[in-house]
Amino acid sequence: MRVLLEKACELLSQGEVVALPTETVYGLAASLRHPNAIENIFALKNRPANNPLIIHVSHYEQIYPYAQSIPPYFVKLAQHFWPGPLTLVLPIQPATIPNTVRAGLTTAAFRIPQHPLSQAVIKQVGPVVMPSANLSGRPSATQASRVEEDFGTAFPVLDGGGCTCGLESTILYFIDNQWEIVRLGSLAPEQFQPILGYQPVIRQETNQAKPLCPGQLYRHYAPQAKLLLDNKASPESIGYVLGFSDRQYPNCKIFSLGKSDNPEQVAENLYDTLRSLDDAKIQCIWVDSDFPQKGLWLTISERLKRASYPSSII
Ligand code: TXA
Ligand code: MG
Repeated sequence: MRVLLEKACELLSQGEVVALPTETVYGLAASLRHPNAIENIFALKNRPANNPLIIHVSHYEQIYPYAQSIPPYFVKLAQHFWPGPLTLVLPIQPATIPNTVRAGLTTAAFRIPQHPLSQAVIKQVGPVVMPSANLSGRPSATQASRVEEDFGTAFPVLDGGGCTCGLESTILYFIDNQWEIVRLGSLAPEQFQPILGYQPVIRQETNQAKPLCPGQLYRHYAPQAKLLLDNKASPESIGYVLGFSDRQYPNCKIFSLGKSDNPEQVAENLYDTLRSLDDAKIQCIWVDSDFPQKGLWLTISERLKRASYPSSII
């Protein structure tokens, strides 16, 4: 059910869960003041309890009362990238944030979204937690109709049009005296160099029992279709291609991600195209992975890999 801004604010203030648009992907929002609504988010998404939520605020100084300490360059990063697709993980004072939000960790993740509607909601309602508005494991939703696909047409959605970034925020974590990327996202690693003076390392999760970014342990972004990446089969033998509009794949039906020289366009289209594979009931598809391994392509590549994992291995 599409709701207007005022209704969305009213529902959130009453302890309901509402889907909101952000510039990255749609989010399932609950007010930080309503523990029941926060628990409801985990149930609705079928999300494991050990996967913490991002707290969305409207000004970076709102974070100070929760923080245990402020890492170097926090203000520089906040002033340069917020509002925008960046999430920062900070050590917090545990008593200030419900355990469910941070999955028992002594850190919490924060971000200021850029979409004017989510900003307007947060200004009125106060901080909200907001995981991506999809059932756990499915591709994130980048349009209101895709939220309704997962949660039903009776579910309240504030329709803000298509998400312009199309990929989740990049998550930075201050560890061993430097900021590291614990989740690739809409901001490319290179974009941090001018602010930090170094390009943050992309941390590969090695500690399964105590991961730095628990969400990275799960199979994600996956359609029903089996995605064939780096495979030896020819596209023609499969018959379906997830590829680019400026390339030729003879005798194949193409699901286009956009032009191969435009990673921003590919990012914007990625999840919707993955979901359209399910609309078309595709069982198996050849993925054109011939693109550079840098910039935003790194995130696109990571999402495609995650979407291609057989569910049994994660
Ligand atoms: O772009 C985005 O970030 C979107 C929009 C809606 O804002 N939200 C989003 O939320 O992607 P979600 O829940 O789908 O992903 C949150 C990620 C998970 O991988 C989770 O493990 C990580 O953030 N995370 C949250 N709190 C954390 C913490 N304290 N330490 C490390 N990772 C954390
Ligand atoms: Mg998600």
